[in-house]
Amino acid sequence: MDSGAERFSILNFSMFFFLFIFSLLLPSHYHCAQVYNITPMQPLAHGQTLVSSGHIFELGFFSPNGSANMYVGLWHKNILPRKVVWVANREKPLAAADSLASLRVSSNGTLELVDGKQSSVWSTNMSLPSNSTSTVALLLDNGTFVVNDHMGVELWKSFDYPGDTILPNMVIGLDQSGNGNFLSSWRSENDPSTGSFLLGMAPQTPSQVYVWTTKNGSSTTSTPYWRSGPWDKTRFIGVPEMDYRYKNVFNLNDDLKQRKQYFSYSLYDRPAYIDVSSEGIASLTYSKNDGKWYVYWEAPKHPCDIYGACGPFGVCKASGSPICKCLKGFVPKSNDEWSQRNWTGGCVRQTTLFCERRTKHKLVPLEGKQDDDDDDGFWKIVGVKVPDYHEYITSLNEEDTSNDCKFQCLNNCSCLAYAFVNNIGCLVWSKHLIDIQQFSSGGVDIYVRLARKELGEGKPIKLIVILTATGFVSMLVAIVFGLLRLRANQKEKIPTSRDTLREYIGKHDPSELLIYDFDTILTATNNFSITNKLGQGGFGPVYKGMLQDGKEIAVKRLSSSSGQGIEEFKNEMLLISNLQHKNLVRIMGCCVKEDEKLLVYEFMPNKSLDTFLFDPMRRGELDWARRFNIIQGVARGLLYLHHDSYVKVIHRDLKVSNILLDEKMNPKISDFGLARIVERTQSLENTQKVVGTRGYMSPEYAMGGIFSEKSDVYSFGVMVLEIISSNKNTSFFLYDQQLGFLAYAWNLWNEGRGLALVDEVLGDSYSPSEVIRCIQIGLICVQDNAVDRPTMPDVIFMLNSETDGPQPKQPIFTIQNSVYHPHYGNTNSSKNEATITLIDGR
Ligand SMILES: *[C@@H]1O[C@H](CO)[C@@H](O)[C@H](O)[C@H]1NC(C)=O
Ligand SMILES: *[C@@H]1O[C@H](CO)[C@@H](O)[C@H](O)[C@H]1NC(C)=O
Ligand SMILES: *[C@@H]1O[C@H](CO)[C@@H](O)[C@H](O)[C@H]1NC(C)=O
Ligand SMILES: *[C@@H]1O[C@H](CO)[C@@H](O)[C@H](O)[C@H]1NC(C)=O
Ligand SMILES: *[C@@H]1O[C@H](CO)[C@@H](O)[C@H](O)[C@H]1NC(C)=O
Ligand SMILES: *[C@@H]1O[C@H](CO)[C@@H](O)[C@H](O)[C@H]1NC(C)=O
Ligand SMILES: *[C@@H]1O[C@H](CO)[C@@H](O)[C@H](O)[C@H]1NC(C)=O
Ligand SMILES: *[C@@H]1O[C@H](CO)[C@@H](O)[C@H](O)[C@H]1NC(C)=O
Repeated sequence: MDSGAERFSILNFSMFFFLFIFSLLLPSHYHCAQVYNITPMQPLAHGQTLVSSGHIFELGFFSPNGSANMYVGLWHKNILPRKVVWVANREKPLAAADSLASLRVSSNGTLELVDGKQSSVWSTNMSLPSNSTSTVALLLDNGTFVVNDHMGVELWKSFDYPGDTILPNMVIGLDQSGNGNFLSSWRSENDPSTGSFLLGMAPQTPSQVYVWTTKNGSSTTSTPYWRSGPWDKTRFIGVPEMDYRYKNVFNLNDDLKQRKQYFSYSLYDRPAYIDVSSEGIASLTYSKNDGKWYVYWEAPKHPCDIYGACGPFGVCKASGSPICKCLKGFVPKSNDEWSQRNWTGGCVRQTTLFCERRTKHKLVPLEGKQDDDDDDGFWKIVGVKVPDYHEYITSLNEEDTSNDCKFQCLNNCSCLAYAFVNNIGCLVWSKHLIDIQQFSSGGVDIYVRLARKELGEGKPIKLIVILTATGFVSMLVAIVFGLLRLRANQKEKIPTSRDTLREYIGKHDPSELLIYDFDTILTATNNFSITNKLGQGGFGPVYKGMLQDGKEIAVKRLSSSSGQGIEEFKNEMLLISNLQHKNLVRIMGCCVKEDEKLLVYEFMPNKSLDTFLFDPMRRGELDWARRFNIIQGVARGLLYLHHDSYVKVIHRDLKVSNILLDEKMNPKISDFGLARIVERTQSLENTQKVVGTRGYMSPEYAMGGIFSEKSDVYSFGVMVLEIISSNKNTSFFLYDQQLGFLAYAWNLWNEGRGLALVDEVLGDSYSPSEVIRCIQIGLICVQDNAVDRPTMPDVIFMLNSETDGPQPKQPIFTIQNSVYHPHYGNTNSSKNEATITLIDGR
């Protein structure tokens, strides 16, 4: 007996041991068993997932990156990165460590999430209890999580409780009483609880989609953040990129007769989702069934897309400079705020409308005399997202016409503007006109009511009266102003101190090199105080300074220890300071004392191009017109250095941080000619120095130290591509494709998708032909072989010609990839940016 029992227990033990080892050997996903339904007998345990029958969707426990919380969520099974499209318990998290948690369905149809201690954390609220024992929770292939009773009748479905995402064919909208469902953003990327943005429809006809900012996640305390513009039955007016590609993607029902407004979409049966991010960005993302996500569309993208960016009666134009302008006939409400680029105060009307004056003075309306000279007129503004708060005028006549719409508006003094829109009809506005955005293409035309005077269409007699009156005033103003100017000029003409005298000479006789004394510079820069330091340039630190007369300067302290004589240095400086071109930073003078060699430049208030280009907040200020102007300016400056000045200068350290911007954002090349000085300062030992910056050095220069103007052309090409894309050559790396920036750009070009390189903040507001031309020029300039690169005159010619230039060949980019080290990426970009010196001992 004993031995039998012993044998049995040994057998039992070895079986257990075997099972234990076996379980260790099994692949781990085996534990994460997939199930196809949840029943009262079989809850979903932590570690298990519920999958849809076609393996398209998956539901299970998840813990966001870096979060101590755990949630039950739903996602596409085979697309990465995993996007959780629905969360059951977004406000009621479980602890991430709770491995005994489970999701149950009870026989009355309630879904309940219980923690490890079996206490309820979250549950659905069933109003129709069913007493069947065969309720079942399922995941459908269209992403719906449902609870059905034994008859297959749907008791509950997740689509009725959307989170931050809607899936294709799912609807969001409003019922007859104006109650609706909204998407509400996550609090942050890793926190599914309700955040501060809502997306939904507003009860208007025609309807619009909004993103609202909200304080408490409730729609009552919300303010608009983005607006789609009215739906014209095929597209949203305020989304100009909604062209033919978007046909049949969106569907919006705002027929008031059906007393129900809703919105849905489907993207040709592809996996897709629309969501609102924790930063308030609404986007439509889809997958090409290759396991990845692609953004199809997103908004807001540009500061102009933000609701009311320019305030009431302001118009935002992404390609404008500045982006905000007042409507014709309106002026900024506060010039102070407006000049500080705070546009939100908006604009006010300059001349009271005639109809308002008439109402005020209780004049009798003139029946049937709308075309009287004394009445108001309309000014047309083309291609806009119409303002918010439209009212839809249902036509009285059978034939709805633009003229009817105009008269409807003209006859009612509260009407401030009208638009007659295809597929919609007559829209009028009677509140302040807010959130008008003008597009470079697309949009609709609106007509803004103005006093005749503002339109410049008054009666001739009145015009003369006004003219003489204003003429007299302006003559007076001119005389007084002229007198003041005269006195001011006289004052200016008497130089008060030695410094200003010299400065005066420096300004008027450019062949003279101004020599500053060291003490002046010390005072101006606060003894080279660290707070005055503007940055570290290629050849030494740069300080901001202010001369005694208040003139701002930039002082470069050359860091070369050299045996060069003072006279030699001065001669060299004289030479450089005589290089004058509007696209070169002006050298005002220099200063030499013992080992100190200082260069004094004009101060550039907008600093360098990289402070805009690589700053996520500021790069929006560089619209395409500015970028193109910068590319052209740099090309002209370089042409001057290479060909048009009396001594050929090769810059050797061209990069975006060496392009400074004046107050009008015109580019000025800085640090030119310094390589020349620095080189001269080297003793004539047999060392060959390579100065330059990683990422901008041409292959032959970086490897062999051979430089020519074609090395500058190479750096110019890199810069052009950076300016187009706002990508830094050295910190761009597509990990999955092992691709550097130039290779990436070339690939896009080669696939005919060059425009994909364009910085997304530009939206659609750029000229595709100019961009394509610039990309082509950029790529030809970075050809491996110097002879394949154009000269600067060639570049200028190509920039200004419409005809096709030579086609770039595929560069090999050995340098880019071997020099590049991905870990330097962002964390150590300063190191990456600095000018480096490779000593090539030969
Ligand atoms: C999680 O966060 C870390 C650090 O922020 C990041 O490196 C990693 O890529 C993130 N993982 C996912 C899946 O987002
Ligand atoms: C459904 O059943 C669960 C557990 O069986 C119970 O806690 C819940 O109160 C029931 N709900 C309704 C509405 O009957
Ligand atoms: C559940 O429904 C009842 C009655 O309809 C309601 O009073 C209660 O607030 C609901 N609870 C939740 C969590 O929605
Ligand atoms: C519950 O079950 C009883 C008996 O099976 C049935 O008569 C009753 O109609 C059921 N109730 C519901 C709400 O299904
Ligand atoms: C999802 O599929 C179910 C079953 O086919 C259907 O009843 C439901 O309407 C579908 N939902 C959507 C949003 O397509
Ligand atoms: C937001 O909610 C908090 C508490 O939940 C409340 O004190 C506050 O008044 C609410 N704010 C608004 C604007 O409703
Ligand atoms: C912009 O102006 C508005 C008033 O028009 C003011 O409330 C707001 O504080 C200003 N914003 C900034 C950043 O100055
Ligand atoms: C004038 O327009 C306002 C606002 O649209 C409207 O409330 C009012 O009824 C209109 N008046 C007439 C006489 O049509």
